[in-house]
Amino acid sequence: MARDPNSRIRLAAVGDLHCREDHHGRFRLLVKQVNAAADLLLLCGDLTDRGMLEEGLVLAEELSALRVPCAAVLGNHDYEHGQVKEICGELAKVGVHVLDGDHFIFEKALGVAGVKGFAGGFGNATLQAFGEPQTKAFVQEAVSESLKLEAALSHLDTPQRVVIMHYAPIPETLEGENVEIRPFLGTSRLSMPIDHYGAAYVFHGHAHHGSREGRTKSGIPVYNVAMPLLAKYTPEQRFVVLEV
Ligand SMILES: [Fe+2]
Ligand SMILES: [Fe+2]
Repeated sequence: MARDPNSRIRLAAVGDLHCREDHHGRFRLLVKQVNAAADLLLLCGDLTDRGMLEEGLVLAEELSALRVPCAAVLGNHDYEHGQVKEICGELAKVGVHVLDGDHFIFEKALGVAGVKGFAGGFGNATLQAFGEPQTKAFVQEAVSESLKLEAALSHLDTPQRVVIMHYAPIPETLEGENVEIRPFLGTSRLSMPIDHYGAAYVFHGHAHHGSREGRTKSGIPVYNVAMPLLAKYTPEQRFVVLEV
C-alpha cells in the first residue's frame, strides 16, 4: 500500500554499535525494537569495532532481521583494518545502504544524506590548511567530507531531508568529552552545507561521552546518538526515535 503523503515517518537512529566477532545475538533486541518503533533505521558509523570483515559478517547477520530499510555511514573504527569494501559488501547483502557523500530516498518522501565526516575543530579554532603538507592533508580531508555532504544535499529534492554522519558538526554535542580531544571528534566545516541546504535533523555518533542534543547556527537540531551515550540514559532503548 502506498504511503499517505501526509503521514509522519518514524526515524530510529543510533551509532557506535562497535560490533565484534563474539557479538552474535547482541543486537537482536535492538532490531526487534526498531522493527516495532520505526519506519527507517539510521546508523551513524563505528558499525564494527576494529573494521574487520568477520565483525561485518556478524553485524550483517544481526541486521538481517530488520523489517525496515536502513541507511548508514561508516566511522573511523570501520577503517582500521582496510576492509571497508568487504564490510560494505556484506551489509549491502542484507539491504543496508552505506552512504558516503550520497543519499538514500525513503518512499519519495524523505531523503537521507550521509557522510562519515572528519575532525578539525570548531569555530575560530578550526584547524587551517597552513604549514606542513601533513597539516594541509588533514584539513583537506575535512574539506573534502564537507564537499561530499554538500553534493549529497544539493541533489535531494524530497519534501523532507535528514543528515547522518559519524563525526560531530557542532561542539555542543561534545560537552562531557575531554576538552583536549574535542577538535578530533568533529569540525564545524561539516555544519556549513547543513545550514546552507537545511535539514529536519542531523544525527551523528563518535562522541561516546558527549551530550545528546545541540543545534547548528541556523537552529537545526543535532542529535549525538552514540550507543554508549544512549545506554547511559535509556538502557532499555538504545536508539533515538524522531518523527518527520
Ligand atoms: Fe565509536
Ligand atoms: Fe568513532
